[in-house]
Amino acid sequence: MTNKALPQGLHPDTLAVREAVERSQWGEHSEALYLASSFVQPSAETAARRFAAQEEGYTYTRTSNPTVTSFERRLAAMEGTECAVATSTGMSAILLVALTALKTGDHVICSQSMFGSTIKLLGTEMARFGVETTFVSQTDTAAWKAAIKPNTRMLFAETPTNPLTDLCDIAALADIAHAHGALLAVDNSFATPVLQQPARLGADLVVHSGTKFLDGQGRVMAGAVCGTVALVDKVMGTFLRSGGLNLSPFNAWVVMKGLETLSLRVKAESAAALELAAWLEAHPKVARVYYPGLKSHPQHELAMRQQNGLGGAVLSFDVRGHNAEQLRANAFHVIDSTLLCSITANLGDVKTTITHPASTSHGRLTEEQRQAAGVGQGLIRISVGLEHLDDLKADLSRGLDTLK
Ligand SMILES: Cc1ncc(COP(=O)(O)O)c(C=O)c1O
Repeated sequence: MTNKALPQGLHPDTLAVREAVERSQWGEHSEALYLASSFVQPSAETAARRFAAQEEGYTYTRTSNPTVTSFERRLAAMEGTECAVATSTGMSAILLVALTALKTGDHVICSQSMFGSTIKLLGTEMARFGVETTFVSQTDTAAWKAAIKPNTRMLFAETPTNPLTDLCDIAALADIAHAHGALLAVDNSFATPVLQQPARLGADLVVHSGTKFLDGQGRVMAGAVCGTVALVDKVMGTFLRSGGLNLSPFNAWVVMKGLETLSLRVKAESAAALELAAWLEAHPKVARVYYPGLKSHPQHELAMRQQNGLGGAVLSFDVRGHNAEQLRANAFHVIDSTLLCSITANLGDVKTTITHPASTSHGRLTEEQRQAAGVGQGLIRISVGLEHLDDLKADLSRGLDTLK
């Protein structure tokens, strides 16, 4: 069946439901799921041409698959990039970036308060391949600039960070990177293209853990890298096909359907998170709330400018306590007293999740790395879902109100 060509200049909300709808001969309305590891060729001659990339056509799903391609095209349209490649997880997307954009002798600068596995991958694993990493303060643009060396090849930022919601100024970091011939990669898993499109602010690479908001219902693992055809399709896509970091067609289909409701979910969750953050800030048992939508957040102005006026769905807060042991016990009490919030490390789900970062997402870091990341024992992270706000407040009150 012939698909109608889309008009130019569509809004992201329209692209989220209309981009890359490839109908088969049956004219199905929902996108087809091509759950196939390989594709039958009409002749040996055609197979030879397709394997030699002289003719378009699907051959083998590790090379490409129509469902995966549709997800890649839709996400790229929403991020405003030329293309995207999909990967099995968010970490495999970051691994793909590291293995293709960096080589032995290169230097990468990244924030000391990023997601724990990213710190581990860039700081420890890549060192075994002779890649040097400097960790700087996320919020200190001058520190990123000062860390530049002649061999700096990439700046890797995650904004807002997990779990403290620290921001960095994407446009300023892009200028610093480009002035030195380096790339800027931004992990956009927390913000999603609903809040910010890093490529429009100058980032060369946009990385996603599709496991989070893009899926949005906690069903599958997924990842993606968005950027130019020259870098992402030609270099990273070629490596991905050799390295086999691919996203499965089933997972691609699930995440692609998740993109259709992304904007509605993220906007509703952000509105609820703002109210919940303000309520927590006024609670006597809470020492500090970290949420970019609050005026008290040190980068509130940047957040409003850079994030489409929204704070996002994730907030963290410190409970009160006198020492590390008591802080941990108090945080565990609040978490364990919830009946509604799911105690799980994932985020971006329509079901509100609650976690203790120091013993989960950041549990593999050394105490020194954890302190540098600002992750204390009293810290609790919440990813706000779609439950009624009053029910969420009541759920958190259960533990907070009974803290000694
Ligand atoms: C900001 C960020 N980037 C990347 C990842 C890794 O994604 P995945 O779990 O899909 O590998 C996570 C996971 O929590 C994350 O929070």
